[in-house]
Amino acid sequence: MVLLGPPGAGKGTQAEVLSKELGIPHVSTGDMLREAVKKESPVGKEAKGYMNRGELVPDDVVIKIVSSRLTDDDLKKGFMLDGFPRTVNQADKLDASLEKSDKRLDMVLFFKTSPEVSVERLSGRRVCKKCGKNYHVKNMPPKKEGICNACGGEIIQRKDDSVETVKNRLVVYEKDTRALIDYYKKKGLLREVSGDLDVDGLFQNIKKLLEKENAL
Ligand code: AP5
Repeated sequence: MVLLGPPGAGKGTQAEVLSKELGIPHVSTGDMLREAVKKESPVGKEAKGYMNRGELVPDDVVIKIVSSRLTDDDLKKGFMLDGFPRTVNQADKLDASLEKSDKRLDMVLFFKTSPEVSVERLSGRRVCKKCGKNYHVKNMPPKKEGICNACGGEIIQRKDDSVETVKNRLVVYEKDTRALIDYYKKKGLLREVSGDLDVDGLFQNIKKLLEKENAL
């Protein structure tokens, strides 16, 4: 499955719950790249500037890390891709890579979300520096201010969640990623949910959809 939608649509938040419900791993290119930046690996060093500016990391870099991850044993029974593909070129490469290993996509879940909601969610998002858990200052605050419920780590704001960078991420989404809606519609894989709903409302809608598709 692929989770598709603009920045702040709630893909990562839903993926965390869905991954448990479906029993398949959540593969987020954003998380993989942030980990590489933290480790200061060659990929991280190359990706850092693009990410901080809210631009896409070059296709060849991202395709390489995803292709390598897709061969891991824990993904044999299925996986949920979040944040990939983000360009038509990435989608073509994903198709080719899946075909090679006799796999295929079952569904692309598109989170239709208004730009106002994206900006409000991302400017209020906070993340744990240690374990990466997501919070929101209004919608999902931690029990104790500044401290992660899960691991006690420090809660910070992502560099690319400043209002200016968020605006640029939305421009990049429109320019490079929106085309994937038609791309997957033509393949008969696209299923749409409203990303504007609250966390539980959205989850219930996704669950209903998956039940209808016999995926649960
Ligand atoms: P990435 O980490 O993938 O960022 P994104 O796609 O912009 O998505 P986000 O993680 O920001 O949003 P989300 O939809 O997951 O929302 P979330 O659940 O967190 O990518 C970061 C960067 O890495 C890119 O800009 C790029 O540079 C690079 N990159 C990654 N993949 C790449 C690729 N394939 N190619 C090239 N470059 C790539 O929720 C957001 C907030 O809202 C949270 O605070 C949450 O608590 C709250 N919230 C969530 N759902 C709800 C809800 N339903 N109601 C109310 N609040 C909610």
